[in-house]
Formats: sequence, C-alpha cells, structure tokens
Amino acid sequence: MSASAPPATGSPGAIEPPLALLAELTHRCPLQCPYCSNPRALVGRGDELDTATWTRVLTEAARLGVLQVHFSGGEPTARRDLVELVRCATHVGLYSNLITSGVQLDRARLAGLADAGLDHVQVSFQDADDAGGDAIAAYDGAQAKKREVAALVVAQGLPLTANLVVHRRNLARLPAMIEMAAGLGATRLEVAHVQYYGWALANRAALMPTHAQLVEADAVVAEARARLKGRVVIDYVPPDYHARRPKACMSGWGRRFINITPSGKALPCHAAETLPDLDFPSVTTQSLATIWQSAEAFQRFRGTAWMPEPCRSCDQREIDWGGCRCQALALTGDAARTDPVCTLAPDHALIEAALAEPARGDLVFRRFERAISP
Ligand code: SF4
Ligand code: FES
Repeated sequence: MSASAPPATGSPGAIEPPLALLAELTHRCPLQCPYCSNPRALVGRGDELDTATWTRVLTEAARLGVLQVHFSGGEPTARRDLVELVRCATHVGLYSNLITSGVQLDRARLAGLADAGLDHVQVSFQDADDAGGDAIAAYDGAQAKKREVAALVVAQGLPLTANLVVHRRNLARLPAMIEMAAGLGATRLEVAHVQYYGWALANRAALMPTHAQLVEADAVVAEARARLKGRVVIDYVPPDYHARRPKACMSGWGRRFINITPSGKALPCHAAETLPDLDFPSVTTQSLATIWQSAEAFQRFRGTAWMPEPCRSCDQREIDWGGCRCQALALTGDAARTDPVCTLAPDHALIEAALAEPARGDLVFRRFERAISP
C-alpha cells in the first residue's frame, strides 16, 4: 500500500467504449468439460436471442466504438445463423474471432465463414492425446476432430490460436500439447490454467495443480517461448490461487468488455449473473450504449470508489482492480470484498485452505439436463 495511491475513480462521466463484445450465442455444446466457464444454470435453445436482435447488437456495438467481437458459447457453431452474424460483423467493421471446440465444423462451413469475413479462429484443446482429450470433454472422437479442424482453419488461410486448457490431470503432457498445437500451424497458443468459477469451482479439488506442477509448467512455457520465438506467440494464464496478487479480471469491471448471454443479458463478465443483488439489463429492451454508460450493474464495481480496504489505499488498485468480483462472491459470500487470492485480503486463508484440500478423483461434468431457464 502507498500514501501516494491515486484518488478513487468510479465516476460514470468519461467512460471509454468497450474494446470487445463477447457474444455468447448459445449455451448448447456437444462437449461436457468439467471446467466450462458457462454458468451452472444454462440457457435453453428456446430462450436464445434471434438473428435480428444479434444483428442489431453488433451494429450498436460498432457504433459504440467496440473493435472486436468474440463469437463464443457454449459452442457458437451450433447456431445456424453464424455465417450471417459473421457477415454482419464484417459489414459494420468489427474484427471477428470464433471461439470454438471445432467438433461441428467442416471444410465447407469454414469456407463459408471465411467468405463472410471471419478474421480469426480459436480452437480449444483439452489434452495432447485422444484418450485424455476425449475423456475430459466426455465426447468420443473430439480430439481427432479438433486436430482435423485446426488443419482446415490453417488451410483456409485463417489465423489460428490454440487454447490449451491445463490442470492437475494433464499438466504432465503440456510439452506434448505445445508441440501438437505448433505442429498444426497455430501462430498463437494460449496456455490457460483452469479458472475456478461455476463448473470448475465444483471440480476444484480434482483439477487444482500442485505447486510442483506449477513450477514445472512455468519452465515448460519459458522453454517453448524461447524455442518457438518468431514462429509462435505463447500467452500464459497462470492459476491465480497460486499467485500473491489477483488477476485484473476482465481488465476491471465494466472497463474493456461487455458480455451478452444467449438470452440477451448484458454482463461485465461471463460469471456476473452469480452476483445476487445486481439487475443485469437486457439488450432486448435497452441499447448497448445505454447499458454500457449508465446501467447500475455496470457502475457497481467500475473504477475504484466501491473498494473496501485494503484495496482502497493500495497502489495496485488500478492495476488489478481488486481482482475478481465473482471469485470474491463465490469464496466469501460478498462480491464487494477484496479477492481472497490477494495475500493482503482479510479472507486469504480461504485460498490457503483450498490449496491444502486433498485431491479428489471424481468430476462433475457440464450436462445440459442440469440446465434451467433464466
Ligand atoms: Fe491491493 Fe486490493 Fe489488489 Fe490486493 S487486491 S493488491 S489489496 S488492490
Ligand atoms: Fe466476474 Fe471475474 S469472473 S469479475
């Protein structure tokens, strides 16, 4: 903490537009990953926004100053109108990224998306080998299909990022995962440790890496970065439970990202619906600009004025923005507390207790029958 910390910010006066729109087109997905970032309560197909509403949202986003749209889900290729939505994004001048498992894509569909102006594709990989990849996704043939689709993306001339999700059960194969992804022609790798919200929080004791695994993973990434320099960029998302300071979740609440759920709720992050006392507006009744600039839910944790001590007088407060509100809620029951990941947080003992939990063997898979309508 520092006496020279800047004054608290939080005034809605000068709000820059979001950098990116996260368009969760659907929660439908053939995979059942036990660390899925979707909420435990999934939106059913009948409650999804229609094409006309998404088209309006994309147009409003471009007018607001948004630069990028990330089409995600669930599995965004489950939407039959995906090509139409990509074409709309291109038309209004948004850089478009498709975040996909790949298992429903083929050459013809990829060609259609490229023709519509898709700028970039991100394919997730759950492991290096077929047995591990198929088991964690609970989908036979997933890993082989992903490799096939990654090669098709590259052949189509689209830039490919491979998202490599890592945890206790597959970290031993991280070197092989990196080799596989680089060999497929990915020019960017995102080595991302599981973040513990929603489904992943339910599986935390089964997926949390050990300290020794983390040290090894850091070394693997450093070696691969040096070896693949100039050919492949590697982003690394460490597991924040093992860190001294929290991550700047979403680059700060309501600062850079706006997330639209399949049913049209506008959120500052993908997990924000877990916060019980906030009323999240819908794009079906309000414009994106109104929501971004004045919705109370977006103001609630924007800036630094909401912060309790020790964040309020900490010189890191405009770097990590007090960490993650959803994690603070999930672990302490109060979204307005300092993220317990921070070693300065009054609740940091919760993280130490979680790290000391005995490893569990069973997994809770993301299954749609658990879904409820919003
Ligand atoms: Fe400082 Fe709060 Fe960030 Fe901890 S979470 S480093 S106390 S601003
Ligand atoms: Fe919601 Fe971090 S996931 S603020």
